[in-house]
Amino acid sequence: MNIIQKIKQIKYIKTTPVLETERLILRPITPKDADAAFVWLSDEKVNKFMPYNLYQNTDEVLHWINEIIPKDKNCHWGIVLKENNLLIGSCSIGPDKKEPGAWGFGYNIRSDYWNKGLTTEATKRMIEFAHKEQGIKDFVSNHAVDNPASGKVMEKCGLVFDHYGEYSTFDGTETFKAKFYKMHID
Ligand SMILES: CC(C)(COP(=O)(O)OP(=O)(O)OC[C@H]1O[C@@H](n2cnc3c(N)ncnc32)[C@H](O)[C@@H]1OP(=O)(O)O)[C@@H](O)C(=O)NCCC(=O)NCCS
Repeated sequence: MNIIQKIKQIKYIKTTPVLETERLILRPITPKDADAAFVWLSDEKVNKFMPYNLYQNTDEVLHWINEIIPKDKNCHWGIVLKENNLLIGSCSIGPDKKEPGAWGFGYNIRSDYWNKGLTTEATKRMIEFAHKEQGIKDFVSNHAVDNPASGKVMEKCGLVFDHYGEYSTFDGTETFKAKFYKMHID
């Protein structure tokens, strides 16, 4: 890590401004979103490759919104469809734990909105925010080998495959073989 990257890391202040794309508003998630977020957080299809356990009730969602998100290093956004103001998922980006200077990102959306290009649209906007407003030039992400749709999002955002590895669920009960991607933007 060079000196500029070190300074940026020391001076990092988490900020979650409202962002806009053609079809989406990305905005902070609030306790009023608990019911809407429960739709994807309790969906086994969405949860299959995620590190968190399937949510059982909206109290658990409120804990995520009130306790987990504020303490997390990543900037988290709710993904809202402009056409009907529906919150359909969430995404986040922030300093990567293993790659100094690089930012990593993640996302999940309701399964009835998959394959419409919406996550790619949201992720491109997060990357643009990190690059233009936070000065980040290096990006990393990874996905389970058996979850190619996520890899497709990464590729459509400009990342390229770098190496194989693995990741585990937060409770350590499951480990996935994974593909790791990266991108450098000047
Ligand atoms: C991964 C996920 C976020 C993608 O969201 P999305 O809004 O459907 O993504 P997009 O529509 O922008 O892009 C998906 C791409 O994957 C492609 N795809 C879907 N299923 C695929 C499969 N089985 N194999 C290969 N490509 C696939 C789609 O065709 C699309 O590519 P295209 O635009 O070239 O047609 C969504 O499936 C999801 O929430 N999954 C559960 C949570 C998750 O796995 N998060 C990521 C953890 S790393």
